[in-house]
Amino acid sequence: MSETKVYPVPESVKRDAHLTLEQYQQMYQRSLDDPEGFWSEQAEQFLDWFSKWGTTCDWDLARGDIRFFKGGTLNVAYNCVDRHLETRGDQAAIIWEGDEPDQDETVTYRDLYERVGRFANAMKARGVKKGDRVCIYLPMVPEAAVAMLACARIGAVHSVVFGGFSPEALRDRILDADCEVVITADEGIRGGRKIPLKANTDKALEGCPNVKTTFVVRRTGGDIDWHDGRDVWFHEASAEASPECPPEHMDAEDPLFILYTSGSTGKPKGVQHTTGGYLLGTAMTHKYVFDYQDGEVYWCTADVGWVTGHSYIVYGPLANGAKTLIFEGVPTYPDASRFWQVIDKHNVSIFYTAPTAIRALMGQGNEYVEKTSRQSLRILGTVGEPINPEAWEWYYHTVGQDRCPIVDTWWQTETGAIMIAPLPGATDLKPGSATLPFFGVEPQLVDSAGKVLEGATEGNLVINRAWPSMMRTIYGDHERFINTYLAAYPGKYFTGDGARRDADGYYWITGRVDDVINVSGHRLGTAEVESALVEHSLVNEAAVVGYPHDVKGQGIYAYVTLVAGEEPSDELKKELVDLCIKEIGPIAKPDIIQFAPGLPKTRSGKIMRRILRKVASNELDSLGDTSTLADPTVVDTLIEERANQ
Ligand code: WTA
Repeated sequence: MSETKVYPVPESVKRDAHLTLEQYQQMYQRSLDDPEGFWSEQAEQFLDWFSKWGTTCDWDLARGDIRFFKGGTLNVAYNCVDRHLETRGDQAAIIWEGDEPDQDETVTYRDLYERVGRFANAMKARGVKKGDRVCIYLPMVPEAAVAMLACARIGAVHSVVFGGFSPEALRDRILDADCEVVITADEGIRGGRKIPLKANTDKALEGCPNVKTTFVVRRTGGDIDWHDGRDVWFHEASAEASPECPPEHMDAEDPLFILYTSGSTGKPKGVQHTTGGYLLGTAMTHKYVFDYQDGEVYWCTADVGWVTGHSYIVYGPLANGAKTLIFEGVPTYPDASRFWQVIDKHNVSIFYTAPTAIRALMGQGNEYVEKTSRQSLRILGTVGEPINPEAWEWYYHTVGQDRCPIVDTWWQTETGAIMIAPLPGATDLKPGSATLPFFGVEPQLVDSAGKVLEGATEGNLVINRAWPSMMRTIYGDHERFINTYLAAYPGKYFTGDGARRDADGYYWITGRVDDVINVSGHRLGTAEVESALVEHSLVNEAAVVGYPHDVKGQGIYAYVTLVAGEEPSDELKKELVDLCIKEIGPIAKPDIIQFAPGLPKTRSGKIMRRILRKVASNELDSLGDTSTLADPTVVDTLIEERANQ
């Protein structure tokens, strides 16, 4: 395609890469033509099993019935830790880099084995057993990985809640999954600022009578309230327990974790992933998409509270026996050179981050990058939102010194693992394109009637078959799983994203086609923010949309209608911002609040979000047809007042 510049695979990468283009094409074709044979071989190659499965794979997408390796038994912690002891017991499993540049720690595979075993036994001693749900609300410390793996070891299902979520958001998630145990820390610390995790937990637990135990990691030593009988120090409980904890034999289809994510309607949903297929998907993609080579230091900057942290800090890398870096801090502390300094300090070969971080650092100027060496870097990656070509070019030239392929990886909480992405040794790159599908992934573009579109075209992105790491259900609500993802286009999984396919078959993700927005790579439902806003007694109605934001990708634009007779004020704006922080967390803070006397509605009373999006984005030439509105003058007022925002 001549529309954009093409960056061919560098010779230096091609030479030793796991796969060439021909090998990728062959394996890809085979994965579609002979899924049984393909997945069976991969599952044997990548994972250790206690017992063999029956049928390799079968699915009925219309009913949401998806099975991979059913009847086969394995344990995720065994695969991520125990099986590496013989060959790499003394090698780093986790390299932890603290918030301050002089804080770090190396956890070897042997250390990890002991810490996981001890904490697994500590949980058992407090009554946690196979199938129980355990909530993890931790900062980016090694204990986060230890806690996740300890759950996996005993067959408990973890539900990690991002440490930036408010007590209210934490409580909703604890209640929805009916967790009886919460693992937290006294405080987190990021960019020199403390986050009161234990105090947040205490507050959340006021509404959670079923929580019997809180394990508390001591991170800062700050003052906290203590609830005797419920609260237990993580380190004390671990010290008292034996490091030997036999791994539970789990069916491949037993749940491994629940992770809450935002959708276009209602409250966040608990996306449930399974043991065998998920681990296979994350291990394979970690090896092939990052071209991970034995012994390399690999760093994904996500938080473990998001799926990227689950799949590409913990499970994928550890399944492959990698050295995975866990970073507690932020990219701009102590200054905007931190990422690049950490890369030099720990000899990072593979670096995986979000476009929003790249854009923010790009804005700080090149000197922060150029004063570091970055010679260890070999592969760069991005995830979470479309990357604009300008940020891509900067990442490639300035950070990667024209030497490191960028893998732009498209996937979702629901997909478990990377779905569309280049392979470093195989795929020529085009800035802004996630390029080609991974093994077993059959993307299609459809129009709104469900017609499959061929060739170079644009449409809604669906996946035409199941794949191993696909979510299996929404916790406690299988109907909602079917309705959200599988009903729109029967027999296909609907992603909620739009995409374009070019003449080379490359995919370009154009963004969400539903009411989900992507703020600094954090996924939010506009409905969640709206329900926070209408909690305010003076708010009559609220409508939230995304709008283009230079650094965040999308910003949050809220239209608020007050109850009759109330006047807008700056004070009220601040109250509304605080309310969003309280109900959800700082990530949900609106960037712009516009008080509107009325919202554009159809005659049947439905808010026309299309128009609100256009006004927020200042695309006033393309408002489209407003004649079906109950009161078209509402739009003129919105536009007039937009100028004042
Ligand atoms: C978006 C994050 C463009 C997309 C792993 C998707 C992307 C949503 C990319 C999922 C990418 C993720 N290019 N858009 N490379 N990666 N997205 O569940 O809209 O937090 O549907 O998973 O992020 O967000 P989630």
